[in-house]
Amino acid sequence: MNGCILILPLIVSVMAIFVFYISHRRILRERRNYERSFLEKERELRKYHEDLKFLQSFLKGLRSIGITTRVSPDIRELCQIIIEKVTKLMKTEIGSLMLLNPETNLLEIYGSVGLDEEIVRTTKLKIGEGIAGRVFLEGEPIFCADIEKDPRFMRKANVKYYSKSFISVPLRVGDRVIGVLNVNNKEKMQEFNQTDLELLAIVADEVAAIIENTRLYSRMREMYIGTIKALAHALEARDPYYQGHSERVARYSVEIARKLGLPQEQIENVRRAALIHDIGKIGVPDTILLKPDQLTKKEWEIIREHPEIGEELIKPIDFLENLSPMIRSHHERWDGLGYPDGLKGEEIPIGARIIAIADAYDSMTSSRPYREALNKEKAIEELKKEKGRQFDPHLVDVFLEVLKEEVER
Ligand SMILES: [Fe+2]
Repeated sequence: MNGCILILPLIVSVMAIFVFYISHRRILRERRNYERSFLEKERELRKYHEDLKFLQSFLKGLRSIGITTRVSPDIRELCQIIIEKVTKLMKTEIGSLMLLNPETNLLEIYGSVGLDEEIVRTTKLKIGEGIAGRVFLEGEPIFCADIEKDPRFMRKANVKYYSKSFISVPLRVGDRVIGVLNVNNKEKMQEFNQTDLELLAIVADEVAAIIENTRLYSRMREMYIGTIKALAHALEARDPYYQGHSERVARYSVEIARKLGLPQEQIENVRRAALIHDIGKIGVPDTILLKPDQLTKKEWEIIREHPEIGEELIKPIDFLENLSPMIRSHHERWDGLGYPDGLKGEEIPIGARIIAIADAYDSMTSSRPYREALNKEKAIEELKKEKGRQFDPHLVDVFLEVLKEEVER
C-alpha cells in the first residue's frame, strides 16, 4: 500500500514531465516553423521591395529614353543616345540598335555600345540573315541565356562568339518591323532571364515609337522647309535682281556661324532662317517691290513691315519657331536704330546679327534697279565703316576672315 502511495506521485510526475516535454517540443517546432515562415515572408518582402525599386528605376529610365527624342532630330544621333540608355537600363555590356536602311534594304547598326567601330561600320545584314535578320524577318524575339549551353548556337571549337548571352527583339510599329534591338552580355556574367526578355520588349515598343515619330517629324519638317524654300524662290522669281540672293545669304551666314563655333543645330537654324529671311516680302505688292525709282515714305513703311510679316508667317509652324526671332530682327542695327523693335547690341539675336551682315554684303555686291553692284573691295569698306553702327563689330571681323579665306581657296 505504502509502495503504491510512493509510486503514484512518481508516475504522475513522470507523466507530467512527459506531457510537458511533448508540449514543449510542439511549441518549439511551431516556433521554428513560425520563424521559418517569418524569414520566408521577410525574404519575399525584401525581394518584392527590390523588384519594386528595380521597376521604379526601369520606368524612370524608360521615361528618360522618351525625353531624348526632343534632343536630336538626327536619326543616327538619336539611336546612339537610345542604345546608351537601353544598355544602362538593361545592365548589359553590349548593345546595338539596327534599322533597315531604306536605300539599301539592309539592316545596319545605327547606334551601339561595346562594339568595335569596324563591326559597327561593316555590319550590313540582309533580311533573314543572322540572328538580327531572322528577328526582323519573323518579327519574333530570339533569347539565349548561355550560348555555350544552347543547342541552337552550339559553339564550334574554333568559333569565337562575341557574346555569352543575348536577347534580340524586333522594333515594331503596328504590324511593321522597322529594326532590331540587341543586348548582349549581362553585367557581372549573369544570364538573361524571362523577365529581361519581357522588359526589353517593353523598351523596344517605346524605342520603335520614338524612332517612328522622329522620322515622321523630320519628314514633315523637310516638307515644310521645302514649301518655304519654294516660297522664297517664288519671291526671287518676282524680282530678277534678287536671283540666288537667299541661297548666297544662307551660305555666308553658315560660314560666319561655323567660324564662331556655334553648335551644329544653331548653325542649321541660321541657315534656314537666312534662306527665308525676306519671306515677309511676299506681302509687299510688285508695284513697290519692283519700283525702279526712289520709294516714297509710305512705300518704305510698307517695305519695313516685312520682318514682322515673315515672323507671323512662320510662327504657327512649331518646329520653325526657333527661326522667327532671326527673321523678325534681321533689320535691327547694332546701334539700336534698326527696325522693327529698335533692339541694340547683344539684345539682337546672334543669328539675326549674322544674317544682317550677310544680307547687306550680298545686296551691295548685286546690282539693283537704282544702282550698279559694288565691287568686293568697296563692299568690304562699307562693312568696315558700319562696324559698331549698323553691324556687330566682332561679327564683321569674322565675316571679313570668311571672305579672305574664300579668296585663298
Ligand atoms: Fe529683309
